[in-house]
This record gives sequence, C-alpha cells and structure tokens, in this order.
Amino acid sequence: MRDLPKFESDKLLVGLDTSDDAAVYKINEEQAIINTLDFFTPIVDDPYTFGQIAAANALSDIYAMGGKPIVALNIVTFPDCLDPEVLTEILKGGADKVKEAGALLVGGHTVKDNEPKYGLSVTGIIHPDKVLDNASAKVGDVLVLTKPIGTGILNTALKADMLDDEMIKKVSDIMAELNKYAAEPLKDLTVHSCTDITGFGLAGHAFEMAKGSDVTIEMYFDQIKVLDKAKEYAQMGMVPGGTYSNVSYMSEAMHIEGEEYIRDIVFDPQTSGGLLISLPPAEAEKLLAYYKNHLNTEFSIIGRVKEKEEYSVIVKEKKDEF
Ligand code: CO
Ligand code: CO
Repeated sequence: MRDLPKFESDKLLVGLDTSDDAAVYKINEEQAIINTLDFFTPIVDDPYTFGQIAAANALSDIYAMGGKPIVALNIVTFPDCLDPEVLTEILKGGADKVKEAGALLVGGHTVKDNEPKYGLSVTGIIHPDKVLDNASAKVGDVLVLTKPIGTGILNTALKADMLDDEMIKKVSDIMAELNKYAAEPLKDLTVHSCTDITGFGLAGHAFEMAKGSDVTIEMYFDQIKVLDKAKEYAQMGMVPGGTYSNVSYMSEAMHIEGEEYIRDIVFDPQTSGGLLISLPPAEAEKLLAYYKNHLNTEFSIIGRVKEKEEYSVIVKEKKDEF
C-alpha cells in the first residue's frame, strides 16, 4: 500500500495511516460514514455457517469504530462445478447476519473463480465526534477482550479432521457472533480506544494499538480466555501459517514470557474475533457488569496500558497486582 499515491482530505477522519481496516468520511457536523470490506475462502464445511461467519467478520470493523451498519453488498466468487444450492446457502447465512445487524442487504457482485469466496462491503454511520479508533489508549486504562482466542488454531485442526462436531459448533458460533452486542454499551461509557481482533492476532492488534497510542500494553496470559483444546493443539504444533508471518513481522517489538505455545496463541490469526477495548478501570467495571447479562461469548480484563517502555507489548504468564 505504501507505493500508492496518498489521499488526503480534512473530511477523511480515519484513512490508511492508522492501520484500521475501515475508513471514516465526514459528511457534515452530525454525520460521518464508515466504509469497510472483507471476504475470504470457506473455513467451515457448512455453507450457511460459512456465510454467517464471513458476514459477521465483514460487519465487525463498523462495530469496532463505534458505528452502526446501514447497508451491505455481497462480494462473491463461485466455481461452475459446485452445486448452486451451496451458493444459495452461503448467501442465506450472510443475509441472516445482515438482518440481525439491523442493516439492509442491497446487492452485490459474483465472479466465476476456481475457489468460492464470500464477504461483504459494508457502509455504516456514526457521529463524527464519536468515532472510536485504535490509536488513543491512555496510560492507566485496562483492556477488555470480548471473545476467546484460538480460532485460527482450531480452524487448522478442523482442516486436519481433528475436531468433533461439538467443538466445530462451538468455534463456529463464536466466529458467527456479531460484535454488535459487545459494542452496544460503549456509547454510554468513556472508551479511549477500540479495535477488533482479526488476522494479526491478539498480540498484533494490541501492538497496533500500543504503537498508535505511544504506550506499552501489558497483557496477562492467565487472564485471556482461550478456546478449549487450542492450548493442546498449539503445543502439538497445529499452528496456522499466518501466525509465523505475525511473529516475524512484530515480535521484535514485544516481550513474551513463557513457553513457545503462549506466543503462538497470542499471535493466532482470528476470524471474526472479539473487540479489544481500552478504557479506565471504573468504566471497565460497568462494562463487565453489562456483559454479564448481555454477552454470549466469554470476556475478561486481559491487561493494562502503561507509560511507553522498551517493548510495545509485554505478555506475562500471570497477572500482576493492578
Ligand atoms: Co477487516
Ligand atoms: Co479491524
């Protein structure tokens, strides 16, 4: 991307330079639009479930920025050799998620390709003063994570036929869960920074937040919710390729304590992962109290924000007093 011409405008509130996936464009003093898109190849066998996951993943950046999705368009590639009924199921799964999000599915485009791919282009709205970005964490904040991690490891195990039906359902449900529910209470709280956990993994997205905010983020592995079996499989070396690109790209700026599997779990690329929210401790208490009654996924306070030190991100095995 850095070889592309630069686009600048005072109406562009969030663009390419902050490593957020979505762009925010100010229309007037009251309204800004958020644009984002995402699509990928199937990660589960069931086409309807795949459609749900791909749509939840594409909608996620709107929620991470504090916005509300309003319209969505399908992005599809599909081969001639597959039963068209499969495509119908994928699109149904996606459409049901868009409906659950309260947005409108208004069209899309399909291209013939050897491999099926599906996702959405989504437009959302937000008040220009209420945009949450991933570069404003403040010293003294704590960090809340709203979904367990380890989906990349489990998807790798799934491809190797090592997951039973119960585990497949569990990991699919987590990936298909909209971040809408985690984002809902944020507008009523003081929130400094927010991002969604996707391809860079928890550590990678924390790194982007720490770098952008000019702080150090300290996380405690024993406070992070990790999916059942993910530890075991990581110890066996069932680690997706994306983990190693994350490690080689970012691990120099980090200090990760403990055995290698800890590093592989915190760098595990997530599909439709949860929100990572940086906010003052008292606000986090209110947030957790809300989540106890309203969130279907496991959540926890996983760390805190400190003055900038040598490393941007520190992962300790166990929680310190804080
Ligand atoms: Co994205
Ligand atoms: Co994102």
